[in-house]
Amino acid sequence: MNRMRGKSAVVTGGALGIGRSCALKLAEEGSAVAVTDVDIDKGSVVVEEIRLRGGDAIFIEQDVADEARWDHVMGTVIERYKKLDVLVNNAGVALAKDVEHTTLEDWRWLMSINLDGVFLGIKHAIQAMKANRGGSIVNLSSIEGLVGDPNLAAYNASKGGVRLLTKSAALYCAKSGYNIRVNSVHPGYIWTPMVENYLKSQGDVAQGRKLLDSLHPIGHVGEPDDIAFGVLYLASDEAKFVTGTELVIDGGYTAQ
Ligand SMILES: NC(=O)c1ccc[n+]([C@@H]2O[C@H](COP(=O)([O-])OP(=O)(O)OC[C@H]3O[C@@H](n4cnc5c(N)ncnc54)[C@H](O)[C@@H]3O)[C@@H](O)[C@H]2O)c1
Repeated sequence: MNRMRGKSAVVTGGALGIGRSCALKLAEEGSAVAVTDVDIDKGSVVVEEIRLRGGDAIFIEQDVADEARWDHVMGTVIERYKKLDVLVNNAGVALAKDVEHTTLEDWRWLMSINLDGVFLGIKHAIQAMKANRGGSIVNLSSIEGLVGDPNLAAYNASKGGVRLLTKSAALYCAKSGYNIRVNSVHPGYIWTPMVENYLKSQGDVAQGRKLLDSLHPIGHVGEPDDIAFGVLYLASDEAKFVTGTELVIDGGYTAQ
């Protein structure tokens, strides 16, 4: 219950799926949590869930692609909690399109959230964490940032970008003596609204799920908590020697 006691965290895209699970887990371990999302209703429900369990949480409306909003998020968190210890750059979107049929508009929309959003988060978190002499930034990449998929051109590019941006930022922070660690997490398919919507766009959800299950040597897709436990570890002081690494949590997907 106390692995994150005294810390404050921001989780982007915290209203649903993996982000929601990370917010609940960090709060359960004693961190104050700012849940941010474009979805005000569902984000507020997560905050309520945390409070009902005795935790400390606030909701901040945020589109991660909007730099002005990052100023607002950091300002609000510092005002309320005096410091920022953890940022989970979780918000992301997917698009099931191959490179030939991806429009420039599709590409820019996805990049603005999945890659610009993570870049802005890292940049603004460094400013806030420097003042607090340290922190941990955890970026959600994917197995799709490690291996290619013919039907996920922009998504692959964005998650590959998150992987190497993470390493660059980790080295920069280490070299600068900031005591800020930056790591990426690479989930296999996790049962969340993102994956369910993806399967809906492809046709039969039950059949699609069976196919996804079969892609993971462990025999099934993962659950949001499978990822939240990894994020919690990287966010905590237990990972004080861990920076620039990629934590793969994928049921063996990329081991084949
Ligand atoms: N589910 C998976 O199988 C899987 C696998 C690998 C990586 N990921 C990554 O994990 C992260 C979370 O995925 P998920 O499956 O929980 O997704 P999800 O779609 O279930 O939830 C994403 C959340 O992000 C929010 N969001 C979307 N655009 C936003 C924006 N511009 N600003 C702020 N919030 C925004 C949504 O409102 C939603 O609450 C994403 O970065 C995703 O790419 C997911």
